Amino acid sequence: MFLEKLGTNSRINLFLVSINDTFGWLNKYFIIRLILIISYFMKTLTIVATTDRPGSNTLRFAKHIKPMYEELGLSVKLISLEDFPIADVAGGRYGADIPSIKKFNDDVLNTDGILFVIPEYNGSFPGIFKLFIDYLPFPNSFLGMPMAFVGIAAGSFGGLRAVEQAEMIVGYRNAYVFPERVFIAEFNKVYTDQDGLSKPLYKQLLKSQVKNFATYLDNNFPKLDLG
Ligand SMILES: Cc1cc2nc3c(=O)[nH]c(=O)nc-3n(C[C@H](O)[C@H](O)[C@H](O)COP(=O)(O)O)c2cc1C
Repeated sequence: MFLEKLGTNSRINLFLVSINDTFGWLNKYFIIRLILIISYFMKTLTIVATTDRPGSNTLRFAKHIKPMYEELGLSVKLISLEDFPIADVAGGRYGADIPSIKKFNDDVLNTDGILFVIPEYNGSFPGIFKLFIDYLPFPNSFLGMPMAFVGIAAGSFGGLRAVEQAEMIVGYRNAYVFPERVFIAEFNKVYTDQDGLSKPLYKQLLKSQVKNFATYLDNNFPKLDLG
């Protein structure tokens, strides 16, 4: 029934025609079934770049991390808080039904896990990150959600304070906080888009976090219930 419905969609039909041309010997329904089965078992990850500063290092670094998870077979979505519909919450619209906010939140939360890439702003995380959290539905948004953290900073603390303050909040909101964090200090001196991280230790720490967080996401986490 579901497959029949798919077949009525013209974009999918075009796709099927091209598949039939390429793999004439394979049945189109078999291929769709295969795709659905593979995507069902694929874990999904949302990476959130947690600043709204245009041209941020945070977003550049999040883009660097994304393919590392994809290479391990995860389906990864990258979201930047630059796109948070901030104008729609002006004036304090807590608890209001705001379609743009709901869509943004759903895009972030419809996933098996979240990686937050957090820059250090005034010894903390950017204000837009707290605003985003304050407009998530309460109390279930982060409930039982596996999360990992990467901190970056111009200074020598690598976003340690920013990440630890964020961990306190998501802990309060009952997330599963992955214990392996990565902190990149003096970001501009150790990273370029062309060559990635220049410091071997940072490369190794990031690679380790990616591998272990991907493995962590393979677990079946106990469902939490606030009763
Ligand atoms: C408003 C603001 C506050 C900042 N405060 C700090 C800070 O407290 N400590 C620090 O090491 N870097 C600080 N920085 C620099 C950022 O950590 C640095 O640019 C980093 O590479 C990531 O920020 P970005 O994603 O906005 O580029 C600040 C930057 C901004 C825009």
